[in-house]
Amino acid sequence: MRIGAFIKKAGKPAVNGIPLSRFELAEVARAHAWASDTWYSERIEPDRDQSFQQPNLKPLTIVKPIMFDKTAEYYSLIYTQFKDYGDEADRVADLIRKRNPGAREVLEVACGPALHSTHLAADHGFAADGVDIDESFVSIAGKANPGGRFEPGDMRTFEMGKTYDAVICLFSSIGYMTTRSDLALAIANMKKHAAQGGVIIVEPWLTPEAFTAGQRHLHTVEEEEATIARMTIGELEGRISRFYMHYLIGTEDGIRHELEVHELALFSREEMEEAFEKCGLQVEYDPVGFDDRGLYIAVNGI
Ligand SMILES: C[S@@+](CC[C@H](N)C(=O)[O-])C[C@H]1O[C@@H](n2cnc3c(N)ncnc32)[C@H](O)[C@@H]1O
Repeated sequence: MRIGAFIKKAGKPAVNGIPLSRFELAEVARAHAWASDTWYSERIEPDRDQSFQQPNLKPLTIVKPIMFDKTAEYYSLIYTQFKDYGDEADRVADLIRKRNPGAREVLEVACGPALHSTHLAADHGFAADGVDIDESFVSIAGKANPGGRFEPGDMRTFEMGKTYDAVICLFSSIGYMTTRSDLALAIANMKKHAAQGGVIIVEPWLTPEAFTAGQRHLHTVEEEEATIARMTIGELEGRISRFYMHYLIGTEDGIRHELEVHELALFSREEMEEAFEKCGLQVEYDPVGFDDRGLYIAVNGI
């Protein structure tokens, strides 16, 4: 779709009341180009659950989030600067083995470059597979963990054709489900992939009370491969938190700017628990988890 037509359809996209620049509009229009018209019209009249239909909910101004499609190759460089995946994998292994001592096979849902499952395999002897909606991540994950099977798939609908001793979905990836019904589908699909006694671990995104719009975050990387500065700002629309991630990426080819847009729903604890209970799972809640985001843990069949 041409940018002009996009603006006509979507209104003037803005962040905190400041209209997006021509460059940003071009990025958004580009993201939109691969979203189907049907999908787009659903977004303009969002089919979000009643609980998300707040009186002041505006039509969405940004279309399909483009997530990490331009920076997947730098994800590990950026996130390992401030996140200890080895330590988190130790804690995941412990949580799994306490509940399912003989556990061997783990599935990482929304695995990204599979940093957790690579540690689970290398440090804890698990056989780890993964699934992610982004094919670049699937390919990176497969190279990082050649013993695992990594498949492209949406967490609501993927089908691995087998069950696992543990299914994990970490670092708030579940927040990319933007309705309660999608959340329920994703949890039910994780349950479907858990064997009897299989442990399901989900690290949520923030609750509505914990999110503050307008905060800026800066992360930097200085490595031989790339020098990166990423600044993020978040806004709130109804129960959706939206992040604009601006990257300056310097490599031997020069410096380029990229923009990615992420939308994650702010589910309450009750809404998270409801999704587990709906598919017959009893769920425990750890309010702290790895990073003060909390953790939901369920065992299939208990
Ligand atoms: C914040 S990253 C977390 C990646 C990884 N779990 C980690 O801990 O580093 C969120 C991931 O969710 C994936 N994702 C988003 N929506 C998805 C969906 N509907 N189905 C599967 N994966 C999805 C993204 O591609 C991305 O890899």
